[in-house]
Amino acid sequence: MIVRAAAEKDREWIEYALDRWWGSTRMISRGVDHDLLAQTTLLATRANEPVGLLIYRQEGGECEVISLNSAWEDKGIGTALLNGVEQRARDAGCKRIWLVTSNDNLRAIGFYQRRGYTIAAVHRNAIALARKRKPSIPEIGLHNIPLRDEIEFEKALS
Ligand SMILES: CC(C)(COP(=O)(O)OP(=O)(O)OC[C@H]1O[C@@H](n2cnc3c(N)ncnc32)[C@H](O)[C@@H]1OP(=O)(O)O)[C@@H](O)C(=O)NCCC(=O)NCCS
Repeated sequence: MIVRAAAEKDREWIEYALDRWWGSTRMISRGVDHDLLAQTTLLATRANEPVGLLIYRQEGGECEVISLNSAWEDKGIGTALLNGVEQRARDAGCKRIWLVTSNDNLRAIGFYQRRGYTIAAVHRNAIALARKRKPSIPEIGLHNIPLRDEIEFEKALS
């Protein structure tokens, strides 16, 4: 598997994938509205075919992972993308990498903790507030859990 920066030629697949996975190319995190297509994107590819993507931004010595998806789970794609962004953030001098995930995403909550991320904050009702600006965010999330809070994870980079 190769992890590389996305190029213009990947745009069509990225739009298709974001629509399929998130139903939107817009994502709200910590109250900030992100146009995912305007951010830096890493692609994981196998045999030249994209199999996952990670979207991130760097600001003030920190790196935020805004979106992470694998086309196939349990094949090492998410880990490879996370390692890729961590290396790029380190190289850029970032001291902290962070992200938010939703309170219903039990798989992601475990995945990040097993990779050295710790809970920095729980932003209660952050998703309920985001829903007012983006009504397509469902009321009920994965595992039939009400979708309400953002859980912020962080990892120090050295
Ligand atoms: C969360 C997510 C990104 C994880 O990605 P993933 O590609 O399944 O992650 P990996 O395959 O690297 O790791 C998952 C497990 O598979 C195992 N695994 C990795 N390679 C493997 C292989 N070749 N064979 C079998 N198992 C493997 C890993 O050990 C890991 O288990 P662990 O967490 O207990 O260590 C993915 O589930 C996803 O896209 N979810 C939907 C979107 C989402 O929730 N994104 C995150 C919130 S923004």
